[in-house]
Amino acid sequence: LTGTNRRAADILIGNDRGGYTVPSAKLYPFQWNWDSALVALGFSVFDSDRAWQEVESLLSAQWDNGMVPHIIFWKEEKSYFPGPEQWGTTDIAKSPPTSGITQPPVAATVIERLLAEDSAAHRDRAAKLLPKLDRWHQWFLDARDPDGRGVVAIMHPWESGRDNLPDWDRPLSFIDTTGVGTYHRRDTDIVNEDERPKNNDYDHYMALVKFGRDCNWNTDHIARNCPFWVAEPGMNAILRRAERDLINMATLLGQGDIAARATARLARLDAGFELLWSETVGGYVTLDLRRDEHATGLTSGSWLALFAGPVEPTRTTKMAATLTHWLSQVKHGVPSFDPNHELFDSIRYWRGPVWAMVNWMIATGLSEHGETDLAERIRRDTQSLIDQSDFREYFCPVTGRGGGGTDFSWTASMSLYWAA
Ligand code: DGY
Repeated sequence: LTGTNRRAADILIGNDRGGYTVPSAKLYPFQWNWDSALVALGFSVFDSDRAWQEVESLLSAQWDNGMVPHIIFWKEEKSYFPGPEQWGTTDIAKSPPTSGITQPPVAATVIERLLAEDSAAHRDRAAKLLPKLDRWHQWFLDARDPDGRGVVAIMHPWESGRDNLPDWDRPLSFIDTTGVGTYHRRDTDIVNEDERPKNNDYDHYMALVKFGRDCNWNTDHIARNCPFWVAEPGMNAILRRAERDLINMATLLGQGDIAARATARLARLDAGFELLWSETVGGYVTLDLRRDEHATGLTSGSWLALFAGPVEPTRTTKMAATLTHWLSQVKHGVPSFDPNHELFDSIRYWRGPVWAMVNWMIATGLSEHGETDLAERIRRDTQSLIDQSDFREYFCPVTGRGGGGTDFSWTASMSLYWAA
């Protein structure tokens, strides 16, 4: 490896804590779920064994009920808030402690790619992980879609991985935050506060952590009573893609029961995704399941419909046209939120900035729908952002300036695996 690739690999090696990788040394000092899965792709370019270890360590933290948690607190580390005491999962997660929520299940898609590199060499390792993926995917339907509508809900903005998306503003506004008490955020000790969620967002995040802790993360109680309960296109698209990739692997490896279960789940999720289509907005948007209300803007998650599976040609054409319009409004794509919307904020985390790993998923979906020019533009934009501003957490779509954490693992991974 040389040049940018060498630097990217050195970031992954530097963030490796022995079998798992932290997203960014200071800001996120533990193992995060979708970060970890996406980081395995970068490792696969130069160290296949290490790539497998990453997904194996992630899935080793699976709860008895099937959920794979969003943070695994492998070591004690005081620089992050909220830590294990706030999550209160010690009895459920046993050791090590974890958070009480999940994150987008991109792991199956990653494992399918690791397997495809050499399916004879890797079949035993993959075969051991498939039952875990099957149980996690089943958990999504049981715990997060108990009424069988075909869309899975999130109970916390952090589950989407897109923490402060404008989509959450209204659903969160109904939550009572008076019980959260005082706490000390640690993220704004490390990163400029303009680049992070606002304190008011954090009050709501903490109210929802308290809600989960108070019911001991009981999934029935959460589904019936959690004040935040929304279905969003990013999570649902990634899960649908994950089911497709799980079916491919299970078929290849002769695990017919898993293939059959995933096929049944996928049929339900493919049909349910229609609930997220908004004719008014002209795309797939968040649905607040407590109020049956669509969000008013498209987000980068809307384009992940193309990553999820086949989209009918008229909708694909419409989506490609809207995305082309977005890209004409900014210098670097893809912004995480509609640049024409009044709530767009070019540097504040998920209210505008560009994220390399979302770009990879969007470009993958576009290529699979024949939109290769758009896919290539997004790949080039991603690499030029990294060339301009280094391996930052995310980038301003207007100026290309980097934001959030530095020496960021998934940005390095995407550069190595895809963009360079
Ligand atoms: C954070 O702490 O900002 C994380 O995104 C939560 O997962």
